[in-house]
Amino acid sequence: MSASANSIIGASVTRIDGPLKVSGGAHYAADHFFDNLAVGVPVASTVGNGRIVHIDTSIAERMPGVVAILHHGNTQQLFRPAGSFEPLSRAGEVRPPFEDDRVYYYGQYVTLVVANTLAQAQDAAFHVRVDYDAKPSIVDLAAAPPPEGAPHVHYTRGDAASAYDSAPVKVDQTYTIPVETHNPMEMHATLARWDGDKLILYESSQGVVNHQHVVSEMLGIPVDNVQVLSPYIGSGFGGKLFPWPQSLMAALAAKRVNRPVRIMVPRSLMFTTVGHRPLTQQRMRIGAAEDGKLLSLQHDVLQPTSLVDTYVEQCTGVTAMLYSCPSVSANQSLVPMNIGTPTPMRGPGIVPGLFPLESAMDELAIRLNLDPLALRLKNYTEEDPSFIPARPFSGKHLRECYEVGAARFGWRQRTPQPGSMKRGGEILGWGMATATWHAGRGSATVRVRLNADGTARASCATQDIGTGTYTVFAQIVSQKTGIPVDKIHVVLGDTSLPDGPTSGGSTVTATVVPAVDQATQGAVDRVIAAARKMPGSPFQRVSAGDDPPALKMTAGRIHAADASPESGIPFQDVLVHHRLAALEAESRTAPDPATAHEFSAHSFGAQFVEVAWDPGIARLRVNRALTVIDAGRIINHRTGRNQILGAVVMGVGMALFEETIYDPRNAKPLNNNFADYLVATNADIPDLDCIFVEYPDLHLNDYGARGIGEIGLAGVAPALTMAVWHATGVRVRRLPVRIEDLMAGQPMTA
Ligand code: MOS
Repeated sequence: MSASANSIIGASVTRIDGPLKVSGGAHYAADHFFDNLAVGVPVASTVGNGRIVHIDTSIAERMPGVVAILHHGNTQQLFRPAGSFEPLSRAGEVRPPFEDDRVYYYGQYVTLVVANTLAQAQDAAFHVRVDYDAKPSIVDLAAAPPPEGAPHVHYTRGDAASAYDSAPVKVDQTYTIPVETHNPMEMHATLARWDGDKLILYESSQGVVNHQHVVSEMLGIPVDNVQVLSPYIGSGFGGKLFPWPQSLMAALAAKRVNRPVRIMVPRSLMFTTVGHRPLTQQRMRIGAAEDGKLLSLQHDVLQPTSLVDTYVEQCTGVTAMLYSCPSVSANQSLVPMNIGTPTPMRGPGIVPGLFPLESAMDELAIRLNLDPLALRLKNYTEEDPSFIPARPFSGKHLRECYEVGAARFGWRQRTPQPGSMKRGGEILGWGMATATWHAGRGSATVRVRLNADGTARASCATQDIGTGTYTVFAQIVSQKTGIPVDKIHVVLGDTSLPDGPTSGGSTVTATVVPAVDQATQGAVDRVIAAARKMPGSPFQRVSAGDDPPALKMTAGRIHAADASPESGIPFQDVLVHHRLAALEAESRTAPDPATAHEFSAHSFGAQFVEVAWDPGIARLRVNRALTVIDAGRIINHRTGRNQILGAVVMGVGMALFEETIYDPRNAKPLNNNFADYLVATNADIPDLDCIFVEYPDLHLNDYGARGIGEIGLAGVAPALTMAVWHATGVRVRRLPVRIEDLMAGQPMTA
């Protein structure tokens, strides 16, 4: 472990890419421009189910600037060669665009108009006439045929059904989370350019390497002939983990017209063609003893998926691992519907899974007249019970999260009776919930170069989706060399760089940090070896027969390990002496497969929320939200805190606003815009605070870092709805919280 007391590891370093982003110097996918650029505008299906009968392009193709119109009738079939489905490669939607005349969901691309300008392409797209043989659309669970066959996910330990039947205290409730749509600031976009046989894609992607493999498989061209560039991303939240059809359409169109082609997915189609968090309807049954000890958990999930993919939102895993409970059963079933395919959205599985689990725990605490925090402590587990035999955690300090959070929040002042905490004309409500997210680590290759001008360069084909990955790379290089971060150039988001991980699952930091560390050490070792060969250098001062002194690099200088950095020389002097522009090293690191099976690795947290309810005017506000997180060592406290607070903002949106609403007639998302799809904005956001309890998780990597991108969202919705119950007496089991639900449960007086 290389961090010391005054280390840059953990420091609140500002984002090294920040100045470029705020000055417009960072070019996002759609910002790229080429002289002969053509623009593609998709025509999307206006029915949710059926067949294309006829596509009439006769008017559109004669319109100014139109250069091509692509659809299934005039486009070569794309295919994925059989057997090529490496686990590495996953597309957002497995069916390629323009496959045939079938329409599976509203908003499916049926035609692409390519023109010289965006305005020309949009105008012509309005004049493409598509006739459909439309069938009724299935858009809600009540109207869908019930799932058949075995559940897609099944977990069992003990005998949960009989333990429930004989339990003295029971909770049996169903909780519903609607479809939530990713709404990153930067919309999906692809600029495709062919250079001979080589395809270059400028993308907004959370995983350039995976994207490269998918495109190679779908187009049937060698991987090395596909380059994907995504150096800057205006966030993704999971929606950009996998390639979506616009990327392949752009590649096809660019080939067809022999020009670079850009397609931006308009905000309205962001609601249909690039994934969403699926609706989940989750029944949670808890059986407990009179003292609150859990005896049985049963978690049954119904979840829609599309007709073009079987996406499973893994909601039940958290139920099996979070609390000590002898008997657990969990089942998840999928219901195909005429809605585009779902995809991971920040905290997939666990965020929607914790809402019913933590809500039902609160309902149990109320039933037992127990403090909700005390109920969690009574069922605390020191090992992961989802494995048989139970597996130790690589590190778990959740108890401390609860304690630190309760003390900071003032939890002990809570009076449990709903409506009992008044302040002025408002009623306060307090809620809390447990948060968790699995900690993962993958493999990565990083190249680090030490330059003769005194700078360093680190590169890897991962990407920074706004989380601070650029800065974390620079911090590790700086830590190992003493070169200041403003002299460290980090290059990411390009498949021509050494292989790197997808920015998903909160795993990038834990994955890349060991590789940056080793590659930096490799480059330093090469400079040290060169230093030894410098005649007259201080490193040959030893008398004949002595061992040469051990050398190290500190503060940008090469020096004897037992002497101060000032006694040595700047590293660049070594390079200049040898007339070298640079020395570099590359390292690939991977998790140790042995420890992967020895430990269960998760992060944990406790979240506390205060709401204020003004019954006179039916106004609900969130006053404050406190999050305490155990996620190992935090490499950068500024970007780390930013991840947690940003996730809490998203949690306020999830609990109070977010819901994609579909028209039952044709499966159109009715609120497919920023005016009608509400997300939390400044005025909705309470006083936010975040505390890290820092215990480096050395089972995961030498720096002890886990990931923090998703866990901050995990407990917000259940903590918030619990606070709403505490203020109003109304239990909301169907998100988002609706003001009419609160009014229906309330006399209109304080
Ligand atoms: Mo996250 S849903 O893995 O981007």
